[in-house]
Amino acid sequence: MAGQSRAQFSSRIGFILAAAGSAVGLGNIWGFPTQAASNGGAVFLFVYLVMVFALAYPLLVAELTIGRYGSANPIKSLRSIWPQQKKVASLLGLAGMVAVSMILSFYAIVAGWLLGSLVGPVLDAVGMTTAAAWLESFSTARNLILMIIFMVLTICVVRNGVADGIERWSTRLMPVLLVLFLLMVVYILTQDGAMDGLKMYLVPDFSHFSADLVVSAMGQAFFSLSLGVCSMMVYGSYIQKNVNLPKVAAQVALLDTAVAFIAGLLILPAMFVALNNGVEIYNETGGLLSSDTLVFSVLPAMFDTMGAVGLLVGILFFILMVIAALTSSISMLEVPVACATEELNQDRKVAVWWIGGVITLFSAIIVFNFGEMFGLVISLTTEYAQPILGMIFALLVGWVWKRDQALQEIKQGYPELEQGLFWKIWPWYVRVVCPLLMLLVFFA
Ligand code: PHE
Repeated sequence: MAGQSRAQFSSRIGFILAAAGSAVGLGNIWGFPTQAASNGGAVFLFVYLVMVFALAYPLLVAELTIGRYGSANPIKSLRSIWPQQKKVASLLGLAGMVAVSMILSFYAIVAGWLLGSLVGPVLDAVGMTTAAAWLESFSTARNLILMIIFMVLTICVVRNGVADGIERWSTRLMPVLLVLFLLMVVYILTQDGAMDGLKMYLVPDFSHFSADLVVSAMGQAFFSLSLGVCSMMVYGSYIQKNVNLPKVAAQVALLDTAVAFIAGLLILPAMFVALNNGVEIYNETGGLLSSDTLVFSVLPAMFDTMGAVGLLVGILFFILMVIAALTSSISMLEVPVACATEELNQDRKVAVWWIGGVITLFSAIIVFNFGEMFGLVISLTTEYAQPILGMIFALLVGWVWKRDQALQEIKQGYPELEQGLFWKIWPWYVRVVCPLLMLLVFFA
C-alpha cells in the first residue's frame, strides 16, 4: 500500500531546499564558527573542507541512493539492499531512528532557548521585564516550556506530509534564511572591531593542528550534513527517479558548506564587535567563552549596546536561528514518522503526535536531569552513533549491496553518468577509502 501512492518531493529544487534545510542548522551557524574560533580559524576551516568533500559527500550520495532505491522508510530501505540479513538490516534502521530521535530531543532544548532569546528582548522593549528575564535565564521550567513549543512547531510541519509540510516549509523558509543571513553579515562587517574577528577566522594558526582537531572536523562534517542517522536516507526515498543524485548531493553539500563558511564571517566578527563594545568574550584562562555563552550571552549583550538597531538585528538573528533549527528538526522527526506509517501501517496524523510525544517526553527527562544527561546525549549521538552508523552504511553500500546495483540506481535517467569520473571513483571510494579514513580518524 505504502509503495504505490508514496509521497514525493514535487520538484528537484524542492528536494534540494529540503535537504539543504536539514543540513543547514545549528551545526552550521553555531557549531562551525565556534569550533573554528577555538581551533585555529583557517586551519579548522581547511580540515573541515577536506572532511566534507573527501568523506561526507560520498556518504551523502550513499545514503540518498539507499533511500531512493528502497523508496521506503529507512528500515525497509536497508532491508531491501540487504535481503539476506533482513533482521540485522532492520536493526540498523532502528538504530538510526533511535539516534535521530535522541538528537531531536537535545536539539529541541537548544532551539527552545533560541525562541526565548527571540521573544525576550521584544517583551523587554514593551516593558514586560519580568517575563523577559524569565525567558532569558536558565531554569527547568523555561527549558521545558520552550522545548515543548518548539516540538509542537516541528510536529505541525511534519504532520502535513512531504510535499505539503516538509517541502512547502523548507522552500518558504530557506530563502528567508539566506537573505537574513547575508544582511546580517554585511551589517556586522561594517561595525568596529569586526576585522579582528575576520583575522582570527581567516588567518591560519598552525599551532592548533592536532589529531583532536581532525576528529572534531569530521564530527562537525557528519553532523552538519545530517549523516548516519537516516534523515538523508528518508529524504532520498522521496526523490523522483529522474533526479541526478551525485549532482543534487553536491549542491546540498556546497550550500551547507557555504552557509557554514558565511556563518564564520558573521559570528567571529560579531564576537569582536561585542568585545569592542565592552562585552567580555574571554574566560579566566584566556580562552574563548563556551559556545553557548557566546550565542546566548555575548551576542545578546552586544545587540543591547546597539540600541534600537541592535534590537532589530538581534530579533532577525534569532529568527534566522529558529528557522535553521526548524528545517533541521523536521528532517529528524520524519525518520521515525516514516517508519511508523509504513512499518506499522499507521496514519501520519496519528503517528506524528505519539512519536513527537515520546520524543518530547525524553527531552523533558533531559531537561529535568540537565547536568547529567544533556552533554551525555550529545556525545553519544554525535560522537559515536553518527560516525559509526555512517561507516556501516558505507560498508553496506560498498560490500553488501553489489556495486552494479548501486550504480544502476544512481544512473537512472542519467546514462551519461557512466562516462564520468564519479562513476569510476565513487564505488571504490565508498567501499575502501571512506571506511579506512574513518577508522584512521577514530584511532587517532
Ligand atoms: N545538520 C543539522 C545541523 O547542522 C543537524 C542534523 C543532524 C539534522 C542529524 C538531521 C540529522 O544542525
